[in-house]
Amino acid sequence: MGPWSRVTSQLEANLDRFLKNWGPITWRDEVSAMKDESDPRLGRLFWALAGVEDDSRHMRVKLHWSGADRSTVIQDFNVVWLAEEAEHSRAFMAMASRLGFNVDLPSHATLHRDRRAVIAAGALRAGSVYKAGMLAAYLCLGTLQEHVALSAYNAIARDPRTPQVIEPVLKRIAAQEGRHMRFYRQGAIAVFESFPETKAFVRAVSRRTWRPPGVDLLGKRAWADVFLPVLDSETGAMIRNVDHIASELLGEPMRLMERFERGLRGNAARVVLPRQSNAPLEASESRQSPRSQMVQPRTAGLASPPRP
Ligand SMILES: [Fe+2]
Ligand SMILES: [Fe+2]
Repeated sequence: MGPWSRVTSQLEANLDRFLKNWGPITWRDEVSAMKDESDPRLGRLFWALAGVEDDSRHMRVKLHWSGADRSTVIQDFNVVWLAEEAEHSRAFMAMASRLGFNVDLPSHATLHRDRRAVIAAGALRAGSVYKAGMLAAYLCLGTLQEHVALSAYNAIARDPRTPQVIEPVLKRIAAQEGRHMRFYRQGAIAVFESFPETKAFVRAVSRRTWRPPGVDLLGKRAWADVFLPVLDSETGAMIRNVDHIASELLGEPMRLMERFERGLRGNAARVVLPRQSNAPLEASESRQSPRSQMVQPRTAGLASPPRP
């Protein structure tokens, strides 16, 4: 059996396991049972998560650019994955709304995203000629993003400030992210076994491009504003295990989250200064960077109080 036939049959077996428990999670009863209490902090977090989940629509486009969807197994996985992620988005949006946070979701169009997303679009198209490498990168990066999602949701579910009635919903979503992660991880292992040289490629891609889910969509500042408190919570530390998972898959120490966090906290320290000297932060930033002007309408939902 050639390497591609071997990978395809391993992915098919993997898809069979994945499809055993497929289907959207249930959440409507729990969300109906929520008290109508305004909580801007949690509402804003759920709104941001709804956006990140809804961003799976954009992933479908990226997947096409990368050429990884030439495999019918990946197409079959993706149809189910998209349906499940879309339901997560609806659940988070409904929870945000019950907490008094009703704001439209951010745009997913490439040109509205962080500028690195535009560069990535070109790189994905160019890289699509390297079929095994792109498939390995897709499966490996998918593993990492799903780990971040599932550990973040578990952390939010365990946070005593989260209404108890929706804890099961968060756990159901986290469990589904775990199922997604297993598909990606087992798939990545299968590709690495048959095409070991792809590991070096994926290490390089990960080191150059990896950022936690939502950064491309929201921009670094808005992401930090909403997600650093989750990362800093007692149970949020599990998110950092993403570096351990990447190192294990890729056979070398990978410090993706560590480097991202260090850069982010360094930048956060720098942008705090104008606030302390009473200069308006948004105004001083938009003078420096045309991008922040473009990003402003999308982050407005994060920075402003919820609409009634
Ligand atoms: Fe999800
Ligand atoms: Fe997922």
